Amino acid sequence: MLFVQIYQFFKKNATFALKFIKIYMYPLLLAVHSWLRWFLLIVLVIVLIRSFLGWFSQSKYTKLDNLFGVLLIAFAHTQLVLGLVLYFISPNAYPAIQREGMKVMKDANLRVWSVEHLIMMIVAVALIQIGRSVSKAQATDTGKHQRMAIFVVMALAVIFLGIPKDRLMLFRF
Ligand code: HEM
Repeated sequence: MLFVQIYQFFKKNATFALKFIKIYMYPLLLAVHSWLRWFLLIVLVIVLIRSFLGWFSQSKYTKLDNLFGVLLIAFAHTQLVLGLVLYFISPNAYPAIQREGMKVMKDANLRVWSVEHLIMMIVAVALIQIGRSVSKAQATDTGKHQRMAIFVVMALAVIFLGIPKDRLMLFRF
């Protein structure tokens, strides 16, 4: 009897938790993920400009360059974690694969969110991380700027390709 009561308690609360996730978590995380994209893109562009200027003018790799590098890593990794959570609760991502199976590959919208965006954004964050590590390992300041510039260009290109055009410039309120 007690076991049945415990089972029913968990079943009831699990259903409540799932409802809560569906109703509140998804729109909230989507909005945060959407806004964080702007912070990440702004820092990416700042790092891009500073790295190219530093590379071509052979200037010092300053504390400010390092600070933007740290910010870039922080935003990229936070976006990755948010994206991974979103992936398992968005009706357009993993739940779509569970619902539709391989049919998601035939639907352009579902294919983007369940396969393409995931792969491309993981590659983009990896490029940012590798760029930062390779840049830090350089002996000269010009070398640091140069490596960062090259990897940030690649990461930006992958990000632009991995976000559908109608969502790229979207401000979600
Ligand atoms: C560089 C990192 C990333 C950037 C810049 C980025 C950007 C975006 C943008 C702009 C959107 C559309 C938001 C909107 O509709 O307002 C989005 C949605 C989404 N992203 Fe990312 N993302 C990144 C990483 C990831 C990763 C790593 C994953 C998965 C592991 C992911 C999964 C998703 C999912 C599931 C959606 C929601 C699609 C939907 O339900 O409509 N993202 N992302």
